[in-house]
Amino acid sequence: MAAVWWLAWAYLVPLVRAFCPRGCSCDDSLPSARCVGAGLNLVPILFNPSLRRLDLAHNSIASLEQALVFLNLLEDLDLSHNLLESLGVGNFEAQSNLKKLSVAHNNLSTLLPRAFTGLTALTHLDLSYNSLDDLPEGVLNDLPHLTVLHLSHNRLFFLSQHAFRGPKSLLLLDLSDNYFRHVPTEALHAAASLQTLHLCRNRLTDLSPSAFTNHDLKLLALDGNNIEHLDQATFMSLKHLQNLSLVGNSINEVPTKALSFLPKLEFLSLSRNKIREVRAGAFSVQSLLTTLEMSRNPELKAMSPEALSGCGELQHLTLSHNPKLKHLPSGLFKPLKNLRSLDLRDNGLKSLPEVEVPWKTLQKLDLRDNPLVCNCSVRWLAQLVRSANTSIASRDLQCAAPDKLRGLYLSR
Ligand SMILES: *[C@@H]1O[C@H](CO)[C@@H](O)[C@H](O)[C@H]1NC(C)=O
Ligand SMILES: *[C@@H]1O[C@H](CO)[C@@H](O)[C@H](O)[C@H]1NC(C)=O
Ligand SMILES: *[C@@H]1O[C@H](CO)[C@@H](O)[C@H](O)[C@H]1NC(C)=O
Ligand SMILES: *[C@@H]1O[C@H](CO)[C@@H](O)[C@H](O)[C@H]1NC(C)=O
Repeated sequence: MAAVWWLAWAYLVPLVRAFCPRGCSCDDSLPSARCVGAGLNLVPILFNPSLRRLDLAHNSIASLEQALVFLNLLEDLDLSHNLLESLGVGNFEAQSNLKKLSVAHNNLSTLLPRAFTGLTALTHLDLSYNSLDDLPEGVLNDLPHLTVLHLSHNRLFFLSQHAFRGPKSLLLLDLSDNYFRHVPTEALHAAASLQTLHLCRNRLTDLSPSAFTNHDLKLLALDGNNIEHLDQATFMSLKHLQNLSLVGNSINEVPTKALSFLPKLEFLSLSRNKIREVRAGAFSVQSLLTTLEMSRNPELKAMSPEALSGCGELQHLTLSHNPKLKHLPSGLFKPLKNLRSLDLRDNGLKSLPEVEVPWKTLQKLDLRDNPLVCNCSVRWLAQLVRSANTSIASRDLQCAAPDKLRGLYLSR
């Protein structure tokens, strides 16, 4: 009996080790297996049981029933682009070493309460591009170490206040491209360690007071909603926020009061909104702001000469594609003692006096596609683009007027 056992050990184990299912390529050094686009309907069972990484993306797998019980050393499992409608219950019970799991681009419509039981080491979970319309209370309770959760491109519109209570240190949450009409404030409140939150392309229209209570939040992206109104106290708790993106909303004035609660803000984008005018001191509390973007505001007509006061740390200013912006007041850029790049492309500017440019620190100036009037006032610009060492200004600047110079390149 012992001899038979020994024979089995000696001959079969190496065979199993060396076995690699058809359509897969296996690397026995990690060990890992890659079966991308292999036409699989099921998870093959004959893998090396000590597999650590398994890539099953782009197959036709529709069920995980008992499929992973022998792969208890897996650390990274990719099931994206398959046909899963459910993860079932308890199918990851053996995966106590799994750190990364992707089920993106499947057809999950719901998650059953014990779907993730066993995944005690999981840090990254990607459930994006599915059809989830609910995140049942408690389903994430089995994931104490989850730090990154992708839920974008689903059908979520509501989250229970206990939805994120399980993970103790969730850092990144992506809820973009769902159907939220309101910020799920209570659910987010439980994700106390959150640093990055994406809520782009939902259906948000108003941001209520204290909509976000995540004290550690550093990046908040709210692009592509329909936000018109931000309560003054919307961002009241976000004392550490560094990056705020509000691109593509319906904001019609710089939300100065709401921004005043963000003492650490470094990056702000208000591009693609409906801002008409930038008032004096609009950003005056943003003393650390290094990047400000305000492009494609089709109604933007006027900037106060003090619009940028207090922005002394600003390094990159993008104020482009605002066709109604025909005039920049004298002194506008004066507070910007650290400005490195100034993008004024495609506005309605006819001229820019040389004295207005913050030359000391500037490395990049873009004035293309403005209706420049080529008179003595822009001679400096012609000289600049003609000089040999002109990396500072883009060269292809054309005159729009007077008539006899229209179309002429300043560099000629
Ligand atoms: C996804 O699931 C829904 C039902 O939940 C079904 O109607 C649809 O055909 C499925 N899509 C695919 C690509 O399997
Ligand atoms: C802020 O986030 C946006 C995307 O939301 C990104 O493009 C930008 O580089 C970030 N800026 C900084 C300074 O992190
Ligand atoms: C050049 O044209 C600009 C724009 O029309 C005008 O503001 C400026 O006064 C003109 N400069 C001179 C020297 O005529
Ligand atoms: C370009 O050259 C001029 C003199 O030839 C010099 O004063 C200026 O600093 C140079 N500018 C850059 C950006 O190198």
